[in-house]
Amino acid sequence: MTAAAFLLFLIVTASAANNSISLISNGAPCETKTLSEPRAATGLNFDISFEINNLVLEVSRNNTNFSDISQQLLSTHPQIVGVILSSTIRLPTLSLNVRGRLKVFPNRTAETDVFWKTFDAPHNGWAPPFRDCNFLQGIWFYAYILKSADIGLGLFIPVKLNQCDFGLSDIFGGPHQCDDETTDVSNLIFLCF
Ligand SMILES: *[C@@H]1O[C@H](CO)[C@@H](O)[C@H](O)[C@H]1NC(C)=O
Ligand SMILES: *[C@@H]1O[C@H](CO)[C@@H](O)[C@H](O)[C@H]1NC(C)=O
Ligand SMILES: *[C@@H]1O[C@H](CO)[C@@H](O)[C@H](O)[C@H]1NC(C)=O
Ligand SMILES: *[C@@H]1O[C@H](CO)[C@@H](O)[C@H](O)[C@H]1NC(C)=O
Repeated sequence: MTAAAFLLFLIVTASAANNSISLISNGAPCETKTLSEPRAATGLNFDISFEINNLVLEVSRNNTNFSDISQQLLSTHPQIVGVILSSTIRLPTLSLNVRGRLKVFPNRTAETDVFWKTFDAPHNGWAPPFRDCNFLQGIWFYAYILKSADIGLGLFIPVKLNQCDFGLSDIFGGPHQCDDETTDVSNLIFLCF
């Protein structure tokens, strides 16, 4: 990774971390949750199919350096904050961008359980969004899962919370009134890349 990319990585994740803390202080204590319905990420500034194809190619070339593949992905696309990779010759590995540091989990841990449970989903494609309450306190994630006989991958992308986004109403406990006149955007959008 270049120095410039790494700096960007640090800046983006540091501001994301600050903003998520303000959410906690505004609201209820963090509780891990998973929505009942799958939801596709919106507002992506990159082509996710292109990145998925690249990952599939890389892993099927028998590149087992999952932390290197993950670090390149997370630094190139700061909108992605977590990735799980697995292959026939390497057990699944979760990598998370935790406030600018790459944390690599070769094994399931209690703190990362919600990511692994989402990865276990029986269907490929977008999974139901979930909220992490451990390493990424209070952040909701979209999850894209792809598993075949040869490879597995999961991509985790923070949700930009917005009560005016009807597709996210479950997060706010059902359909919410969205009054553009009085909406305080600074309280609603806590992850701005
Ligand atoms: C995070 O918030 C603290 C306290 O409000 C502030 O001092 C710090 O500069 C902020 N960091 C970033 C990266 O915004
Ligand atoms: C990857 O490894 C598997 C298992 O060792 C092997 O069957 C396969 O041919 C390898 N693929 C490549 C592209 O090297
Ligand atoms: C993985 O890649 C990184 C960066 O290229 C390298 O520093 C590290 O030694 C590699 N790890 C293994 C196990 O090959
Ligand atoms: C991770 O799991 C593997 C296989 O179950 C086990 O052999 C290994 O000791 C575990 N590593 C850690 C750090 O717990």
